[in-house]
Amino acid sequence: MAVPTPSFSHVSAASGRAPARRDIAESTYERLRGALSEPEWLLFEPLIRDIERLKAERRAIILAHNYQTPEIFHGVADLRGDSLALAREAAEGDADVIVMCGVRFMAETAKLLNPGRTVLLPDTQAGCSLAEAIQPQDVRELRRRHPGVPVVCYVNTSAAVKAECDACCTSANAVAVVEALGSERVILVPDEYLARYVAAQTRVEIISWHGHCEVHERFRAADVAEFRTLTGAYVLAHPECPREVQQAADYVGSTAGMISRLAARRPASALLLTECSMADNVAVLYPEIHFLRPCNLCPHMKRITLTNIRDCLERLEPRVEVAEEVAAGARRAVLRMMELTASPRVRSADPAASGPAGPPGV
Ligand code: 13P
Ligand code: SF4
Repeated sequence: MAVPTPSFSHVSAASGRAPARRDIAESTYERLRGALSEPEWLLFEPLIRDIERLKAERRAIILAHNYQTPEIFHGVADLRGDSLALAREAAEGDADVIVMCGVRFMAETAKLLNPGRTVLLPDTQAGCSLAEAIQPQDVRELRRRHPGVPVVCYVNTSAAVKAECDACCTSANAVAVVEALGSERVILVPDEYLARYVAAQTRVEIISWHGHCEVHERFRAADVAEFRTLTGAYVLAHPECPREVQQAADYVGSTAGMISRLAARRPASALLLTECSMADNVAVLYPEIHFLRPCNLCPHMKRITLTNIRDCLERLEPRVEVAEEVAAGARRAVLRMMELTASPRVRSADPAASGPAGPPGV
């Protein structure tokens, strides 16, 4: 789900702010008011102004994942959302340049779907522990051990790994993709906890791998129970969390699923068992919800800053390229995901996106 940009009333002339602010960024400032202090805004405003100018000059579009900081997410992004929304959005539009404010596998996916466009990743060190957890030869070995069993890879993988797989999936559509393959057994790599989450919701036998997200694996069920007792907060967990953490939550789903669930339930207080910026960004949309903040930072997502976004737009570097020998296979896996989940016969992967609030599917 792409996150909508909320509409806010503009800053009034009586507010006493300098004219320079009013001409470029009134609505941006209004949007960010709840998430940033005045000194932070003064620091970010010139960068936001430069980025807006460069976007127009370069015919560029900025995509931002839900884990990006508010000044990026609400300040300069044109399209925002979870991995699935970013993959879909990357396939649309006619911009010459795509800036991916996220991690490498997201930029690679954008490049696979836009081979003729320039795709920029503001910091090439923005990786992902899940993408590091499996290599192409591991997929080949799994196929050798389980002949004839289709392989689904989480989008959090390198293009080289995707090229070895039959279809890719995200946390929002993993159940749907697995079921749509029509096989009694499916290999689902690399996240062990996502695989167990899927296995709990389908009759398809899931063969998993042992990859973990370094951010989500740090949450502990005992801490969740303690927080719930102390605060009564509604608890939402990402499927990359350990299984006992998922079981301790009220809802389990992708980052977009969490937003949909919060929009539907509007709890007085909420605890998001995921990356820290997620709560900061959602709080801008739903200021009436009190977010508790025992979150974990993703060091890779946090490599993206307004400064390196500005710099990459200025230099049109660093560009993300996908090696010729893996691009066709990796693109096939991403497009297969989209085909499989476009079918009306496939049930929605994320009940929160449309259905009523209910117990988590774990
Ligand atoms: P989502 O697809 O749910 O946004 O998750 C991406 C991710 O990297 C979670 O750690
Ligand atoms: Fe990868 Fe985890 Fe960071 Fe998501 S939060 S990008 S899965 S390391």
